[in-house]
Amino acid sequence: MEYLEIKGNTRLGGEIDVHGAKNSVLPILAGAVLIKGESVIHNCPDLSDVRVTINILRHLGAKVKKEGSTLIVNTEKITTGNIPEEMMQEMRSSIIFLGALASRTGRACLFLPGGCDIGLRPIDLHLKALEAFGYELDFDGVNICCENNNAKASKIVFPFESVGATENAILASVFLKGTTTIINAAREPEIEDLADYLNSAGAKIRGASTSVIEIEGVEKLFSTQHTVIPDRIVASTYMSAAAITFGDLLIRNVNHSHLAPVFPPFYEMGCELYLAHNSLRIKAPSELRRVKITKTGAFPGFPTDSQATLMAALSVARGSSVIKENIFENRFRHVPELIKFGADITALSRVAVVHGVKSLHSAKVNCTDLRGGAALVVEALAAQGTSKIYNIHHIDRGYECIEKSLAQIGAGITRKNDEEGS
Ligand code: UD1
Repeated sequence: MEYLEIKGNTRLGGEIDVHGAKNSVLPILAGAVLIKGESVIHNCPDLSDVRVTINILRHLGAKVKKEGSTLIVNTEKITTGNIPEEMMQEMRSSIIFLGALASRTGRACLFLPGGCDIGLRPIDLHLKALEAFGYELDFDGVNICCENNNAKASKIVFPFESVGATENAILASVFLKGTTTIINAAREPEIEDLADYLNSAGAKIRGASTSVIEIEGVEKLFSTQHTVIPDRIVASTYMSAAAITFGDLLIRNVNHSHLAPVFPPFYEMGCELYLAHNSLRIKAPSELRRVKITKTGAFPGFPTDSQATLMAALSVARGSSVIKENIFENRFRHVPELIKFGADITALSRVAVVHGVKSLHSAKVNCTDLRGGAALVVEALAAQGTSKIYNIHHIDRGYECIEKSLAQIGAGITRKNDEEGS
């Protein structure tokens, strides 16, 4: 079994690049099925979730070529609107294909993976949006079919913000006659990136990044090129790694306005942040201060995906910090694993109290989910001794060769395989 071996207690320093955003590239690749032509998509990270999405596209009849970090997706021919269960099981966010496929092929049939590692993740808002357009849905809790018999542009009011439901609604409405209005849309930068990609292909989407999005239906989308935005969550992981090791890092390829919601707790910990064109330098103090309270929220709130890695950094801050998880109901599964390093954290329901400790020791731990796994890496970087982190397939979903990136800035990290030693 593969694992990461980390010799901790090393101060990180130097320069590190951030790859393209996972949460942008996945909906963009789903959006590619709307185009009868070629999409040249630059800055695509090499992640397992992206590979799963490429397999889905190939299954649907698309041709996909990879040239470095550029994907060339030809969707001239889409031969089916069905995605088999084993492909759907590999990645929860494959639900994003529903709106795009129903729109392109007239009928999409997918399977739903059940609950998940961070919460139930229902899809009721996705379905309500499609129904509001007039798509016919047949859903038995596992199988889901969506048919476009006479769907029309419509006004949808979401009761709260959902990134995936907003994206599905956009993808399902690009070709609908008339003007669609999405009220209370999620405002995450990845939604704007999806809209920019679709607009570059001829779509007419206005207001992405605000809570009211308007989509004027068009008849066709054309071949296009697009560059995926930098991954703000990966950038925030590097910030936590710098903070916990009292390091000094120049993080390149960042968008400051996308990353700004994560700045407040880092300032409160005493980190100095210097913004320059497309880069961010973080200089951590020799002792981190506690952060009174951090509440996760929809953009521009503090991202739930950065919560676990921030918690890791706070585990060595002086004093007690509080974290409130407002987005997902089961997003503290990393806490028992962090405690194995000597961290002092109490989590109850959606609130965690982190009492800073003076030092951490090495541990053998298991990743429970993607961002929780990244938090274990951050924790191990500051722990004295050699730690082993297992179940790293979770990390590979969202970080491209994390060991190579971190080794470049001084971390003692290697990917190993238990079988190699035996
Ligand atoms: C996306 C991100 C994920 C991030 C999350 C919140 C991708 C591929 N994933 O996930 O990394 O953590 O946004 O920023 O972009 N909800 C419902 N009904 C629905 C849909 C959502 O109740 O139909 C709830 C969810 O359970 C959650 C909240 O809405 O409590 C927000 O979830 P949502 O924004 O939809 O997250 P995802 O799009 O799944």
